[in-house]
Amino acid sequence: MDVLVINGPNLNTLGTREPEVYGSTTLAVIEAGLVAQGAAAGLDVDTFQSNHEGAIIDRLHAARSDGTRFVIINPGAFTHTSVAIRDAFAAVEIPFCEVHISNVHAREEFRRRSYLADQAVGVLAGFGAFGYTMAMEFVIDQLKGQ
Ligand code: DQA
Repeated sequence: MDVLVINGPNLNTLGTREPEVYGSTTLAVIEAGLVAQGAAAGLDVDTFQSNHEGAIIDRLHAARSDGTRFVIINPGAFTHTSVAIRDAFAAVEIPFCEVHISNVHAREEFRRRSYLADQAVGVLAGFGAFGYTMAMEFVIDQLKGQ
């Protein structure tokens, strides 16, 4: 596989979770769209969602040997807390984009801090579910011809 899309805690509830903040698109629809977008560009896309920090770290470790060339991650609330996910990215040395559906900079103060952002190739926040599409377009351009 070429691209791994990871979604963290509570993102499995997209569609019904605070729709005024996160919109009404479900994670299944987002993931299917990203798989199709990647396939149209000749890329294999795998998706993974977990509410558990350790499971996300285990999936990142596996990515090191399964051919993953780029990760798109919405770490959910782990963005603001997880030194362990930051360290996992440093360990596997796979480039990644960080995506947030909401504009984390326009919300509570604690959401402005990310333990991953300075290690990411780039960060998208506030564009709704379209942020994932934008990130995938960037990844397609990055991997083109590699
Ligand atoms: C989020 C923003 C986080 O602060 C929050 O904990 C989430 C979702 C977003 O996509 O906007 O779970 O990552």
